[in-house]
Amino acid sequence: MQRILVTGGAGFLGASFVRHLMAETDAVVTVLDALTYAASPEALAGLPPERVSLVVGDVADPATVDPLVAAADAVVHYAAESHNDNALDDPRPFLDSNVVGTFTLLEAIRRHDTRLHHVSTDEVYGDLPLEGTERFTPSSPYRPSSPYSATKAASDLLVRAWVRSYGVRATISNCSNSYGPYQHVEKLIPRQITNVLCGERPRVYGSGAHVRDWIHADDHSSAVRAILERGRVGETYLIGADGERSNRAVVEAILELMGQPRDAYDHVPDRPGHDLRYAIDATRLRTELGWAPRHTSFEDGLAETIRWYRDHEGWWRDAKLAAEERYARQGR
Ligand code: NAD
Ligand code: DAU
Repeated sequence: MQRILVTGGAGFLGASFVRHLMAETDAVVTVLDALTYAASPEALAGLPPERVSLVVGDVADPATVDPLVAAADAVVHYAAESHNDNALDDPRPFLDSNVVGTFTLLEAIRRHDTRLHHVSTDEVYGDLPLEGTERFTPSSPYRPSSPYSATKAASDLLVRAWVRSYGVRATISNCSNSYGPYQHVEKLIPRQITNVLCGERPRVYGSGAHVRDWIHADDHSSAVRAILERGRVGETYLIGADGERSNRAVVEAILELMGQPRDAYDHVPDRPGHDLRYAIDATRLRTELGWAPRHTSFEDGLAETIRWYRDHEGWWRDAKLAAEERYARQGR
């Protein structure tokens, strides 16, 4: 039985990981989460209270973090500001949570010699040309192009430095775009599904030719667990499920699955500095750790996600209003 501290465990992916641990292990979990606008404690509802507890606090606050790390066998670090459009508007919270938060956690990890898994993004590698077959690998150079990805790159580099300089026992994962239930409605897939449910047209940035490499949140969670349990300390693992699609193709698939004409969407002004294409080579994860995704059909995963948003309007309605107010100010 392991005691695991999950930072950001009330967010989309952190909560997915906690649900995965409840279903697949006998771990006891403490969630540390600041409950920002992006959090969804509902995603933890119904889990056994003797195995999951929530501490509301800031990962950048040493007095909160230190005793929680001291009491844990392992820490899985999801807490972060996660949305590119918000970072373009106001980068400061991204520096506080993603950079200072990771630094604060690392100092506690160093003091207590606790195992750490740091959850990061493929965006630290910048982007790839639209045409071509090149994919990111663990040795791709760091070339972040947005305020969000720069803070995530900074957090990865801090982890690497603490491994090398202090012998901290850490692994890092860099994952591609995740989707599934409980994802905040500001993100591409839930935004477009809920637009259609609200009688609005989906909104595609720029040409919509930009490519993302989609993976279901459940598969992201099983990969993180594989790395936590069997990953080599000091290593980086890329997580992806060979799910490359252009944004246009994703929106057309949503429209078709929701019984709308495939071209019933609008183009809106592009995101500044918009990364062109992400693609993950997950060979190390698959061959070294024997991991494989369970959701192999993106269309089936999308259909299941659409059903979930259709059935959970009470969960997303208020957040949708707030997110669309932000988008209206940004002209997107
Ligand atoms: P999210 O925005 O849905 O959730 C983030 C959670 O972190 C929220 O519950 C929020 O309250 C919490 N949080 C934010 N700042 C905090 C702070 N200072 N202290 C404590 N808690 C804080 O994000 P997500 O999509 O679940 O992403 C989680 C992690 O996974 C992030 O580190 C992100 O960079 C990484 N990631 C996400 C994706 C994706 O497609 N969503 C892909 C790869 C990596
Ligand atoms: O690659 C991993 C990253 O994926 C994570 O690190 C981030 O936390 C996560 O938010 C996600 O970043 P993106 O910027 O790729 O995700 P987003 O859902 O915001 O946008 C996906 C693509 O869709 C991107 O090319 C921008 C575009 N887009 C987005 C929205 C919200 C649109 O065309 N229209 C939209 O309304």
